[in-house]
Amino acid sequence: MRAVRFHEHGGPEVLQVDDVDRPEPASDEVLVAVAAAGVNPVDTYFREGSYTPYGLPAIPGVDAAGEAVEVGADVDRIAAGDAVFATGLSSDRPGGYAEYVAVPEDRIAVLPDGADLTAAGGAGVASVTAWRALVDHGGLRPAETALIHGGSGGVGHVAVQVAAATGARVITTAAPQYHDRLEALGADAVFDYGRDDLADAVTDATGGDGVDVTLDHRLDDYLQFDADVAAAGGRVVGIGENDDEIGLARSSAARGKDLQVTLLSMFNTPRLADPLADVAALWAAGDLTVDVARTYPIVEAVEAQRDVMADSFLGKLVIEP
Ligand SMILES: NC(=O)c1ccc[n+]([C@@H]2O[C@H](COP(=O)([O-])OP(=O)(O)OC[C@H]3O[C@@H](n4cnc5c(N)ncnc54)[C@H](OP(=O)(O)O)[C@@H]3O)[C@@H](O)[C@H]2O)c1
Repeated sequence: MRAVRFHEHGGPEVLQVDDVDRPEPASDEVLVAVAAAGVNPVDTYFREGSYTPYGLPAIPGVDAAGEAVEVGADVDRIAAGDAVFATGLSSDRPGGYAEYVAVPEDRIAVLPDGADLTAAGGAGVASVTAWRALVDHGGLRPAETALIHGGSGGVGHVAVQVAAATGARVITTAAPQYHDRLEALGADAVFDYGRDDLADAVTDATGGDGVDVTLDHRLDDYLQFDADVAAAGGRVVGIGENDDEIGLARSSAARGKDLQVTLLSMFNTPRLADPLADVAALWAAGDLTVDVARTYPIVEAVEAQRDVMADSFLGKLVIEP
């Protein structure tokens, strides 16, 4: 089969397409004929070597979706022919940028009838992270207000929908060209993240009460902001930063609100199949779509990984092997 691999760590140019053996699924695994594999920032961290992949040469791709073509004897939730999506790949085993991938049964779920496989390829990391952050870590409740920084991103645009599905009031930030789409996805208020008066705008949008749950993908930029706009009892869930130093400049105000700050890695999810199944249920109910901004053939993985870090887009970039 054809697979993208990197034989050494480095820039996007270390990615190449190789002919490799098709994987044989173990008894607790499902062999998926990959229709689509989402392109995530984390794929570039494995390629650069800031995260450690399972070995070299490595097949990247944390996400994959497609048809289950072989099912191990110990797997009873999934049958050959099912349309499935998976996440959590490429850290300890080969990833989804390939024609086939073997997936452990605890990292895969069946898609709703009629789900678009290209969109499903981009769903894994984005939707599981959004769900874990807002529901499991943030404990978002219907009468509360959520703030999603970067609502146009892969995680952000799903988080807007997950938050809206809980019934919470949803505030998000994004570049102006994405505001209409984010309102259509369920945001009650959308602000340009470049505004000088962003804190006032967010606070006003809460009626002065403050934000209950914040999903922050740039903690070094926004942790103090998050504390300043938080309600008493607010929760901040951090999923990323550009700089490791993310301290609070003014901690006493945050303490006065009993602010909780939680950091989350999707890879620590006890059983990825569970939030994937929750997401599939939301999708089946019509409460979730995954927007695909652009697709790439397997030979353009270099461009795809460049674009995911450098371009502005709404939703997901997806490789179709
Ligand atoms: N901890 C975890 O388990 C976990 C899981 C998933 C993702 N992450 C991390 O979370 C981050 C987002 O992931 P993603 O997949 O959603 O990436 P993405 O699709 O590239 O989205 C990033 C978003 O951030 C926006 N943005 C850029 N500058 C901003 C600013 N100053 N303020 C607010 N938003 C800004 C971008 O908008 P424009 O392009 O329009 O500027 C873009 O929409 C990445 O750092 C990723 O590594 C962590």
